[in-house]
Amino acid sequence: MDFIMALGRQKVALVGDGAVGSSFAFAMMQQGIAEEFVIIDVVKERTEGDALDLEDAQVFTSPKNIYSGDYDDCSDADVVVITAGAPQKPGETRLDLVNKNLKIMQSIIKPIVDSGFDGIIVVAANPVDILTYAAQKFSGFPKERVFGSGTSLDTSRLQVALGKKLGIDPRDINAYIMGEHGDSEFAALNAATVGSVPLISLAEKAGLSMDDLLKIEDDTRNKAYEIINRKGATFYGIGTCLMRITKAILNDENAVLPVGAPLNGEYGLDDIYIGTPAVINASGVAQVLEVPLSADEAKKMQASAETLKKTTADGLA
Ligand code: LAC
Repeated sequence: MDFIMALGRQKVALVGDGAVGSSFAFAMMQQGIAEEFVIIDVVKERTEGDALDLEDAQVFTSPKNIYSGDYDDCSDADVVVITAGAPQKPGETRLDLVNKNLKIMQSIIKPIVDSGFDGIIVVAANPVDILTYAAQKFSGFPKERVFGSGTSLDTSRLQVALGKKLGIDPRDINAYIMGEHGDSEFAALNAATVGSVPLISLAEKAGLSMDDLLKIEDDTRNKAYEIINRKGATFYGIGTCLMRITKAILNDENAVLPVGAPLNGEYGLDDIYIGTPAVINASGVAQVLEVPLSADEAKKMQASAETLKKTTADGLA
């Protein structure tokens, strides 16, 4: 009977129905994930309009009860995804958003917790690592039940860029962006592999030097700015990332994803959320995987952590 119960109705609550939130909702509809989906935002007309628009897609995918709601509707949700916050404007870094988005996060977490919600919180608003840390502190939830999109989008960008250069399906490139989801992120090239072949040696055979790989890392780090400068925001990539993360939770997958995970000694760090591969299942972050970093990469991880800790301390002061 338990197994049948485990196949019961799955419910997701989205807090923040801007471009990222609605892209996430659309991705969830396209994939037919969860039977119930509530959209929460201060702009009620937007959430009502999105719910009415999205429900029309179910005929082509799968039945879904999708509606505009409020924080009380989080009470029986399995996952709450938080995208609410001011997005980057051209010329702004993600860290520039910290003060205004911490205030928004504080105003969001209390009503979610007061609803009686006891599931998994996934944060995507920027600066995501700091807002994830704050969401865990504000909620008082166990650390593993609150995590962020971290460097999952950045990692997909790295895989796409490497796939183009190497002529390989990006899904088969086991290479991660780690650290801050932001300007101090870095590529863990030392441990990267393609079909169990070290990436660096495969790239060398393809005529790519370490400098070429570091240029790909830099282009990955700056890709969001390139998109924002052209179309004003990014949303399809992150919206699909959030769908993938939510699917891993709802299906109890034990999937390895590069999320913003809570560290407890890994990489010599603790009391921080930062981008690293982790095992994701119905309990949230089941296990942090500590990637073997080169000496240079370990320095980058420490520097990224120091940037996050300083900005967090300033923001929460
Ligand atoms: C980006 C946003 C989600 O990297 O931070 O596109």
